Amino acid sequence: MRSFLAIDLPQPIKTAISDEQHAVRTAARVTSGRMEDMKWTRPEGIHLTLKFLGEISTQQVAQVTQALAGLGSLEPFVLQVKGFGFFPDALRPRVLWVGVEAPPALGQLAHRVETAMNRLGFAAEGRTFAPHLTLARFKVSRPRPELVALLEPKRGLILGRFEVSEFFLFESRLSPSGAQYQKVACFPR
Ligand code: 2AM
Repeated sequence: MRSFLAIDLPQPIKTAISDEQHAVRTAARVTSGRMEDMKWTRPEGIHLTLKFLGEISTQQVAQVTQALAGLGSLEPFVLQVKGFGFFPDALRPRVLWVGVEAPPALGQLAHRVETAMNRLGFAAEGRTFAPHLTLARFKVSRPRPELVALLEPKRGLILGRFEVSEFFLFESRLSPSGAQYQKVACFPR
């Protein structure tokens, strides 16, 4: 199965993101006629990825589950969902994201997960962990001044905060209407 490890968001945050996504989409359609070359994510499926695993076998699911269960307890920490931005940057955007402000505990968790997965043979991430929630992906990477201007006033917008005490192994099923995600296991167990 195609899989990844991620923190899920509580429903009120998904709803807040959904409302903002709707507002931005509507405004963007008015100010720019060429928005069809971006693909918006389904707010219900938005998550904070810790590690993308890709296609894994049933045997690997068992290995991953065992390795992560072995990480032990997770000291809960609070995440704040705030603002918007682009990867790699606003001039050649590929991803429009919602920001995440977190204490060092989030990076430490991602690091522990990364190390455990590397030990199982999953390739190390080539880039540093940049926590984000993907709101849209651009099929063509070109400057989008209208979108940048729309989002500028929302730079400091807080969409909510929540306590993290668990994360999940998700299965991702690709379909024409977008990826569908299903929880396979919860950690710590
Ligand atoms: P993204 O949101 O930054 O695109 C499921 O696809 C999750 O795994 C997404 O949140 C995605 O992050 C992340 N991911 C990381 N690397 C990926 C890859 N090579 N292919 C697909 N998804 C990847």
